[in-house]
Amino acid sequence: MRVLVTGGAGYIGSHTLVELLSAGHEVCVIDNHANSSPEALVRVAGIAGRDLGSHVLDIRDTAALAAVAQGFRPDAVIHFAGLKAVGEGEENPLAYYEVNVGGTLSLLRAMEAAGCGRIIFSSSATVYGMPQYLPYDEDHPLAPVSVYGRTKRQAEDILRDWAAARGRAGAPAAAILLRYFNPTGAHESGRIGEDPRGEPQNLMPYLAQVATGRRAALRIFGDDWPTPDGTGIRDYIHVVDLARAHVAALERAAQATGTEVYNIGTGRGVSVREMLAAFSRAAGRALPHEIAPRRPGDLAESRAACARAAEVLGWRAEYGLTEMVESLWRWQSANPDGYGG
Ligand code: NAD
Ligand code: UFG
Repeated sequence: MRVLVTGGAGYIGSHTLVELLSAGHEVCVIDNHANSSPEALVRVAGIAGRDLGSHVLDIRDTAALAAVAQGFRPDAVIHFAGLKAVGEGEENPLAYYEVNVGGTLSLLRAMEAAGCGRIIFSSSATVYGMPQYLPYDEDHPLAPVSVYGRTKRQAEDILRDWAAARGRAGAPAAAILLRYFNPTGAHESGRIGEDPRGEPQNLMPYLAQVATGRRAALRIFGDDWPTPDGTGIRDYIHVVDLARAHVAALERAAQATGTEVYNIGTGRGVSVREMLAAFSRAAGRALPHEIAPRRPGDLAESRAACARAAEVLGWRAEYGLTEMVESLWRWQSANPDGYGG
């Protein structure tokens, strides 16, 4: 298929490009590099042994986006582009609504101009909010507790309304909403990986920078949570598994109509202490850490029910914790300054 990929130079986008190219798809990337380096695309082409088209532009520039879409004529779009730092969203909500919600509207307008009715959207487990039960299934009520989470929920609503209206108008559309749990790890080559700007806000990139000596110590945000070891539990998913879920979703989008929602996780919970131990093993030494107060807005536990993706998409996660931490360490140790090094 011909696939337009917004935000393709980012962490999840770059890994997905490798899988798309390897599966024989043609890709064209749109990215303004607000949070990525063009070098990622050079490395993707090197890993896949294939070229890809790319355009540096902002998804909010509807006219430019429509021109690219009309030239490329995609069969489907994978929409990664967006802002994702939870704290930044609280400080600057308008930027988050502009890019994540406004950018999605702009993209749909450009897709209409190019006659494209299939989209796969990067949503997040954060749309669920406080768990009413665990694991979260796709029918769990949505009550996001952050600006970022609300932008994702609003974008989901827009996509659902758009697909329904197109269907009623006799121009069938498919919107596949993938709710990612906690992506980590890197491509096995160690050539591409997560490269956060500034101080990492998430556990895994922070741990990786402690291991290279760039950060002094991990702060564990609370050891008094109602979990077996007192630290927060998450459902970490290897980024290559996540990337492959997009290839499966693309095949599904070619046949489906309307909106479909899938959790993308492993279903297994890992605590901060367990992750610290696993990553220390991969890095070959004990990593400095201290107990800090709980982080506002945090949850004790988050875990996915993954049956729907297995049944309908035929996708399930193949990699475990060892592959996640070893690949992350391979990337971080070979590229201690990310793409800037
Ligand atoms: P990322 O920041 O690495 O990638 C996003 C890409 O979008 C970057 O390359 C950035 O430059 C680009 N971009 C941002 N604003 C843009 C704009 N206005 N126009 C064009 N390009 C723009 O993030 P990621 O971790 O790869 O996440 C990809 C998507 O998945 C995001 O939508 C994110 O919200 C979602 N998501 C991520 C996680 C996670 O933990 N990483 C979890 C759930 C959902
Ligand atoms: N944690 C620490 N120290 C740190 C960073 C995190 O102890 O320096 C702990 C957290 O308290 C939590 C766990 O590690 O218990 C994971 O935290 P992350 O920030 O890595 O991940 P979250 O699950 O809190 O949030 C992430 C993204 C959200 C996204 C969500 C679900 O930040 O945007 O995953 O996909 F919505």
